[in-house]
Amino acid sequence: MVCLGNICRSPLAEGILRHKILKAKLDWQIDSAGTSAYKPSCPPHKFSQKIALQNGFDIADQGCRQLAPDDINHFDKVYVMDTENYLEAKRIFGRGADLSKMHLLMNEASEAKNVEVPDPWFGGEDGYKKVYEMIETACDAIILKYIKTASTIN
Ligand code: 4NP
Repeated sequence: MVCLGNICRSPLAEGILRHKILKAKLDWQIDSAGTSAYKPSCPPHKFSQKIALQNGFDIADQGCRQLAPDDINHFDKVYVMDTENYLEAKRIFGRGADLSKMHLLMNEASEAKNVEVPDPWFGGEDGYKKVYEMIETACDAIILKYIKTASTIN
């Protein structure tokens, strides 16, 4: 899960998907990163942490990191929150990267193409609720899409 700062959206996306795959008994490896990690190792934004707790999971132990060129090789899917992050992630991955693995997150959930998860950084708490709802819809769609072919934890 990739956003700009790995502070607001992608840590929440990591937490939401991890929480859901545990329930679904899927053994997927989930991580998040920012195209610009302004505050390395910094925990998620307090409103991202709060909405996670309100929904039954804790993301306080996450630490922000920058997206690395090798992430595109290490993961089967890279989900990006907005177009700007998509272009920057593409630059970081560099020439020869398998860009078929990289998608705008909301394209998994929405008929409308290229819907962006808005950056809540400069807004209030409501923005985080909207972001939560959007990401949750996308995570539900991802699990539904891949669960048939995924291996499960016994
Ligand atoms: P994010 O939000 O990309 O959803 O983590 C932001 C976090 C930090 C900053 C901007 C956006 N910043 O300018 O520090």
